[in-house]
Amino acid sequence: MSATWAVIVAAGRGERLGNDRPKAFAKLGGRPLLAESVERLDRTDWVDSIVIVAPEGWEEPSILLSEDVSASKVVACVPGGATRAESVRAGFAEVPEDALVVLVHDAARPFLPEDVVERVLAPLGDGWDGAAPALRVADTLKRAADDGAVVETVDRANLWAVQTPQAFLAPVLRGALSGELEDASDCAKLVEEGGGRVRLVEGDPRLFKVTTQADLAFVESLLARA
Ligand code: CTP
Ligand code: MG
Repeated sequence: MSATWAVIVAAGRGERLGNDRPKAFAKLGGRPLLAESVERLDRTDWVDSIVIVAPEGWEEPSILLSEDVSASKVVACVPGGATRAESVRAGFAEVPEDALVVLVHDAARPFLPEDVVERVLAPLGDGWDGAAPALRVADTLKRAADDGAVVETVDRANLWAVQTPQAFLAPVLRGALSGELEDASDCAKLVEEGGGRVRLVEGDPRLFKVTTQADLAFVESLLARA
């Protein structure tokens, strides 16, 4: 039995990056950005099987890059949906009924340290339904109108910026994905709204999401040093 599954969502268009291809295939140190998460989740003993959710038409290049990094745990590659949540649902459909735990990870976060995987799995053994890596917000937070006029300063105590991979008991995530997805930007939200208990654990600043060209250059420099 394959106990722990990882679903890598890579089906976004990467509009803010603005390349001629999806973000998952932007070049990072000479190989596609997606290769980084595939390789890291394949190497860790915490993960048994991997599903890749690829941009429509990019399934074959996704399989090829998995072979290039000698990933042996990739068991399925499916096309994504119009939103991240729909892409998660498409990937999760490949996870068998007897799976115990599912990690959902953004391909857009290529620098994934193994200790984050370990930290995010730990609460599931302590009665939590899900867990997500997160960083305390350090900057002062303000709410502003569309024109930039400050409306208020928001108390940042107890506020965290959430990352992936997020870990869930597989039956809990299955239930959360069977309902209305709206436009949930992360899976934890769906689980929380279904009454699930989600715990935050310490994330890693290097696990930031690549959104712009500057982010891509920065993560490239981190990887070169690692
Ligand atoms: N994602 C996905 N399917 C979608 C939208 C997003 O699988 N329909 C994935 C992306 O590939 C990414 C993660 O969800 O790994 C986070 O999304 P984001 O950073 O917004 O990536 P993009 O949607 O590709 O970027 P942009 O919003 O700039 O177009
Ligand atoms: Mg997006």
